[in-house]
Amino acid sequence: MNNIELINKLYETSSLSIDEYEYLIINRDEESTKLLKKYAVEKRQQHYSNKVFVRGLIEVSNICKNDCYYCGIRKSNHNCDRYRLTKEEILECCNEGYSLGFRTFVLQGGEDGIFTDPWLCDLIESIKQSHPDCAITLSLGERSKESYQKLFDSGADRYLLRHETADSKHYSQLHPDNLSLENRLQCLKNLKEIGFQTGCGFMVGSPYQTTRNIAQDLKFIKEFSPDMCGVGPFIPHKDTMFNNYASGDADLCCYLLSIIRLIKPNILLPATTALGTVENNGRERGILSGANVIMPNLSPMSVRKKYALYDGKISTGEESAQSLYKLKQSMNAIGYEVVVDRGDINNNL
Ligand code: 5AD
Repeated sequence: MNNIELINKLYETSSLSIDEYEYLIINRDEESTKLLKKYAVEKRQQHYSNKVFVRGLIEVSNICKNDCYYCGIRKSNHNCDRYRLTKEEILECCNEGYSLGFRTFVLQGGEDGIFTDPWLCDLIESIKQSHPDCAITLSLGERSKESYQKLFDSGADRYLLRHETADSKHYSQLHPDNLSLENRLQCLKNLKEIGFQTGCGFMVGSPYQTTRNIAQDLKFIKEFSPDMCGVGPFIPHKDTMFNNYASGDADLCCYLLSIIRLIKPNILLPATTALGTVENNGRERGILSGANVIMPNLSPMSVRKKYALYDGKISTGEESAQSLYKLKQSMNAIGYEVVVDRGDINNNL
């Protein structure tokens, strides 16, 4: 089958083989990009019309016990200016976000030892008490199943844990020996079993990534069937061993967003900050390729630059939560509407 036949097959069956995904990636051209985009927008429209969901991203700590080779806040980066927000500061961010119109708060951070179960459960309960109509998403890395269960029981709704790569050899090229794909996938499975709306994801153009690896990621997404999926370009950070690598390709990233929309038509799919960083209007392009979520930064201004997973992160311009008005305008200009809504996955169709 050629590209166009494969895209039609994906549109109709929402599934291809690993070989077929790989063929689609290798043979990416203008015609297939256009057709994928058209189908992706059509499917997204069926589930979410022209609505774009926003999430207020609160970067709660850049202290991390892990040493992921690609990440700017890895433990062994001694140039990183470390911080953690207090409970009061996080609640203040939520209050501000609530008045701006956010109904989902994403608490993201490194694997900081301060985040014990009691500390997090107390925080989650306090946020839910003040804002019972809001969803809480956690993005705090690997924890035990018992811990995830406690966080869920306290009221957390969603959990983001990117799988990073579905190939264990590639996983070991990106992470030190104490981290394994096996454990990562076990965490994802546990989160789903507990009842979290669960998100996986990977970087486009990470060091050593092959087209075969990306095809494996797509197959994994089909099989795991996550509620959310974060996919953005890899961007080098100066204080990591990958500082000389190139950033991931924005065009390929958008192409993959369209494919993922066809693999799971009702998925919650963000146009990521990393995509907005490698390209002006990257987030708009993401939405036009099939994404339906944007996560503006709601962290206190004073810490935004410190939460640097990669260099050049946009953080104080139009992508910030305070500029929601401008985001609404730029979405309206391309035919979309930012809504005040928890923005749960639509499982009705
Ligand atoms: N470039 C792009 N994305 C990155 N992440 C971490 N470091 C980088 C980088 N250098 C992503 C990882 C992680 C998420 C929180 O941020 O995929 O899961």
